[in-house]
Amino acid sequence: MPIPENIIDQIQARTDIVEVISRYIPLKKAGRNYKAPCPFHNEKTPSFVVSPDKQIYHCFGCGAGGNVFSFLMRHENIEFPEAVEMLADKAGVVLKRVSPEKKAQASFANQLYAINDSAAQFFQANLANNSAARDYLSSRGIGDETAKKFKIGYAPDSWDLLINFFKKRNIGDDLLEKAGLVISNERGGHYDRFRKRVIFPIIDLKDRILGFGGRVLDSSLPKYMNSPETYIYSKGRNLYGLNFSKEYIKKKKYALIVEGYLDFIIPFQAQTDNMVATLGTALTIDQVKLLKRFTNTVIMVYDPDEAGEAASIRNLDLFISEDVNVYIAELPAGYDPDGYIRKFGTDDFSKLIKASKNLFDYKLDKVASRFNIRTAHGKAAIAGEMLPTIARINNAVLKSNLVKRLAERLSVDEESIRTELKKVKGDYDQRHYLSSYEQAWKSSATAEKMVLAILLEGGDFVTKVKNALLLEEFKNSSIRDLAKSIFDLNSQDKEITPARIINHLGNNDEANILISEAVNLSDILTDKERVLADCIARIKKDNIKDQLERLQTAIRAAHESKDEASLKRLVSEYNGLVKSGKQ
Ligand code: GTP
Ligand code: MN
Repeated sequence: MPIPENIIDQIQARTDIVEVISRYIPLKKAGRNYKAPCPFHNEKTPSFVVSPDKQIYHCFGCGAGGNVFSFLMRHENIEFPEAVEMLADKAGVVLKRVSPEKKAQASFANQLYAINDSAAQFFQANLANNSAARDYLSSRGIGDETAKKFKIGYAPDSWDLLINFFKKRNIGDDLLEKAGLVISNERGGHYDRFRKRVIFPIIDLKDRILGFGGRVLDSSLPKYMNSPETYIYSKGRNLYGLNFSKEYIKKKKYALIVEGYLDFIIPFQAQTDNMVATLGTALTIDQVKLLKRFTNTVIMVYDPDEAGEAASIRNLDLFISEDVNVYIAELPAGYDPDGYIRKFGTDDFSKLIKASKNLFDYKLDKVASRFNIRTAHGKAAIAGEMLPTIARINNAVLKSNLVKRLAERLSVDEESIRTELKKVKGDYDQRHYLSSYEQAWKSSATAEKMVLAILLEGGDFVTKVKNALLLEEFKNSSIRDLAKSIFDLNSQDKEITPARIINHLGNNDEANILISEAVNLSDILTDKERVLADCIARIKKDNIKDQLERLQTAIRAAHESKDEASLKRLVSEYNGLVKSGKQ
């Protein structure tokens, strides 16, 4: 029985090709992509490129290409279903051809959710009985309503109260350990992970409790103890508070990003409710994608010490490649959002948010302050830090505007910035494609590839091509099949992604190569609208030319055999075609 396509899509969506391929070969970052020497042919200079955005790989040397499944099939020498199975587990997707263990896993997640739910109730009941913990919360400005809403609790000062609580409910230590609630000792015993701490449950968009964070009531260390990664909880895939804030984020059309539990809860309580918290970890692409479901604009609320760190700013480039607008609001030294609001109030906090700068200006100020902008080396260093950010911007107009601003700020000419920018954007085989792009008007074969490249962008482009070209007009039958799949998925209102089309076509080699090649092509096309219009025109012209040639041959034949009726029909067809070609 074939694996249903929606299951394959799900696994695809939850798997990162970069992570999977890195298990086999070391990948090096190059612009938006990753590079390595190709594992499928012998070479010294790396021409194997992996695109995290498009979730595909392509080798410019041997032409190998495909999505994460294709890679595993080829590298592990396995069939498609095995490749799917290999990835299903980690993606948390249960395959339908259910073996008993797989079935157990399905309910395993639910078991863990249920355990976390009971644990949260246990912690909440303990908070009600503990005045020191309640005093602590009120000293932090958390009211009863808020505590209830966020299911805040307290883990008592004990090694086994939680263990005993679950023992009465017939839940053993092993399962609790898998839920991250207990820790095992060397003697094979277990003890409660959270002790003498205020507990903040981490809740997902379906209102399930994934894990917990626990804070000490005093200044002892560690300040926070959090749930480990478990079967249901992965730190980098969640954003604290999004379950509470998502509607506000949609309504206000932007999200504030803060760091800590309290930095979320205190402003939220004061109606600054369009927020999420990263819980002190570096932002991940999964988190960016999660947030992007609700807004395209984010404001990072930073503590100035950290914001100065190049690493924390560099991380924000993740947003840029996802076409998210990033602003940065800087707090005065020594304050976090919680502390600031408690001291100065919400109005001042709002002012500070309104005064946020966009990432480019902010980063430029920061970077410029670290180098001497008047020396040639200083200018080069500043450009070196700014260019990766600019390179990630997809929109050509915006990009060009930033090039201009950077050139002005550094007092250098725009051309030299552009030259450097080209180096950043990925140096591999770009020239080859640019020249084939220039050839597009000469050959309909290249034009068809261009159209495919743009079709793989999905959205309006698909509608445009559908309206302009018939499938028969594609001469290359593989491209025709690909176009057909894309049209089909589009009419089913399914999102078009290169990795998905590859699955849709059953992971066949020829299509995979075409797709991965096309994707790399579209990466360097700036004005897609124009390229598309030109290529469609080219294809149509070529088709008309072919048909005219065929008609000419037929006319000659009809003339020779004195078939007057056919001759008349063919000539009128010929004239009609000539006329349509001129339009
Ligand atoms: P308060 O001191 O209660 O205001 O906490 P905070 O949220 O302001 O903490 P801070 O800014 O120091 O850290 C931000 C976030 O990083 C916290 O909310 C935690 O999620 C995380 N964090 C901080 N300290 C620790 C720690 O010692 N261990 C772990 N695992 N996480 C921590
Ligand atoms: Mn704080």
